[in-house]
Amino acid sequence: MKNPIATLLSSSPGPVDALMDITSRPPVVFVEGHGSWLRDQNGKDYLDFIQGWAVNCLGHCPDAITTAMTAQVQRLINCSPSFYNEPMIRLAGLIARHSGLDRTFFANSGAEANEGAIKLARKWGSKHRGGAYKIITFDQGFHGRTLATMAASGKPQWEHLFPPKVEGFVKVPFGDLSQVERAISADTVAVMLEPIQGEAGVFCADNDFLRDLRALTRREGLLLILDEIQTGIGRTGKFFAFEHAAIAPDIMTLGKGLGGGIPLAALVARECVCCFEHGDQGGTFNGNAFATAIGCAVMEEIARPGFLADVAQKGRYLAGGLEALSRRHRCGAVRGKGLLLALDLAREIGPQVVALAFAQGLLVNSPRQDSLRFMPALTVTRDEVDQMLEILGQVLGEVPR
Ligand SMILES: Cc1ncc(COP(=O)(O)O)c(C=O)c1O
Repeated sequence: MKNPIATLLSSSPGPVDALMDITSRPPVVFVEGHGSWLRDQNGKDYLDFIQGWAVNCLGHCPDAITTAMTAQVQRLINCSPSFYNEPMIRLAGLIARHSGLDRTFFANSGAEANEGAIKLARKWGSKHRGGAYKIITFDQGFHGRTLATMAASGKPQWEHLFPPKVEGFVKVPFGDLSQVERAISADTVAVMLEPIQGEAGVFCADNDFLRDLRALTRREGLLLILDEIQTGIGRTGKFFAFEHAAIAPDIMTLGKGLGGGIPLAALVARECVCCFEHGDQGGTFNGNAFATAIGCAVMEEIARPGFLADVAQKGRYLAGGLEALSRRHRCGAVRGKGLLLALDLAREIGPQVVALAFAQGLLVNSPRQDSLRFMPALTVTRDEVDQMLEILGQVLGEVPR
């Protein structure tokens, strides 16, 4: 008998089902995942170097998460954000201990956490900076898909989408301190950035730039907001990317890896910035016991002795392998930190490489036409890195010059 999912996929001329058509998807349905591997409806296996866009930090369906999930789901799922639950308190404590920041508000997506950061900064500006509300953000930055976070982002394609735009964001070139200085006015309340611009193609802010920006924001009495939604929770080989520059933000947002695959995000701040009054911020699912129990399991895994050192080592191993491929196939530089890396292809062949790799059972992402991005599980093995490099080498050999 023909596989019913295959029938569904092949019989429909347009979108395969009742889903809104918001992106182009390959004609397969994933039904199972373990560690670095995904399986489709026909039993074909794929080596996953996307991992839900850097979300499944411990890989697909890891024991740490399934165990925590099963235990929590039998105890308490959601008692409403109006009440304390035990995992919510424990996870806020873990985030405080590892980040050095003081308080957390839990959210369900990165965009929602960033929306909260923008609100918190505006509230702080209204109380402590004479009503200042403008936030300096960066060209090519990505902060989410709500109206405010789209306005905060610096994606050129979004410039004229969904007017009118949420006002109050001033864009400057990434890494340019003098332009930040020039953009500051009496209305400015904060500077907001990703330590590594992931969606833009994995471009790292210099440690010196981050340190100078921290000093500048202190001097000017502005808040420094770091969007660590992609870079946090061990992705770069440190718990948080800001540790590479030995700075601390006033506000940080987390998402993606924090839930290891389930929707969980966080707005984290220093005590002196936490000025929300009752009613200013909330949300039905925020801080539910189910999600935060999983967040605790993820944080405890990442905090295990040697885990982060291993991520850093595997990042160097992957970067070394990509550099060797680059020399062989005349590509460009390898960018990034830890297990958030990009390979400059030196030609606009990204989508072609992604499609050919997919056909060979490898999932990689092309954030721009001329680059590939790699965000494997932090638990990826060296053998899996070698397998990925082998397939990618074959694919790069097939693409016409
Ligand atoms: C740096 C950064 N901020 C915010 C977001 C938005 O997160 P979410 O898709 O969970 O809303 C993303 C997602 O890719 C991101 O990479």
